[in-house]
Amino acid sequence: MSVNETIKGNYAMQTKIAPSILSADFSRMGEAVGNLERAGADLIHCDVMDGSFVEPITFGGQMVKNIRPLTKLPLDVHLMIEHPKTQIKFFADAGADIITVHCEACAKISPDYLAETLQLIKSCGVKCGAVVNPSTDVQQIFPVLGICDMVLVMSVFPGYGGQKFIPSALEQLKKVRARADCVGRADLDIEVDGGITVQNAAAARQAGANVLVAGSAVFGAADMAAAIAALKA
Ligand code: DX5
Ligand code: ZN
Repeated sequence: MSVNETIKGNYAMQTKIAPSILSADFSRMGEAVGNLERAGADLIHCDVMDGSFVEPITFGGQMVKNIRPLTKLPLDVHLMIEHPKTQIKFFADAGADIITVHCEACAKISPDYLAETLQLIKSCGVKCGAVVNPSTDVQQIFPVLGICDMVLVMSVFPGYGGQKFIPSALEQLKKVRARADCVGRADLDIEVDGGITVQNAAAARQAGANVLVAGSAVFGAADMAAAIAALKA
């Protein structure tokens, strides 16, 4: 299959917008989640940071549990934590619909740790995904592609919202979409996270992403619904 056919195929997939609640006012989280759903969000992206894998600490399973009854949207939990396997049951019990884990955190522990963690997530009845940082070649997660429901390509180094999009993420997206098509996984969700704006959203989609995370671009907009519609357009 040619690259052009790959891109055409990807356009057939509906683009989903996953606003990141990292950019919300944490004292008014329930209100923020309701506003996102009414504004046309497709998933709620929950950034979990542990102060070790990344510098900041955000929240744990309790936040996910408290958000769960407030929305029908899938909760997309992005774990930026060390030793992710030890935390899966808490997020699964809290009501996560998809849990993604960084291959970098897993590689520090053992070569099989990523596959084991993904299998553990699936065994809890939750969708699973592998995440790659901008400095990690996405080919490193190809061996586990068969287990993944989603691949998350970081377009910033994780830890903070409001950073600038790193253009090399486009090559990462193209590689993973081409691989997915090649191994009969045209259904694979490919998510991109970090610095997504109305200006670069089309390029990310053309490169293969069908799920766009957006923090500042949604929460910083005067009209959230218009921002979400523009990211999808
Ligand atoms: C970064 C987080 C992102 C971030 C996105 O570590 O994983 O989800 O909140 O925020 P923006 O869209 O502002 O880059
Ligand atoms: Zn994220």
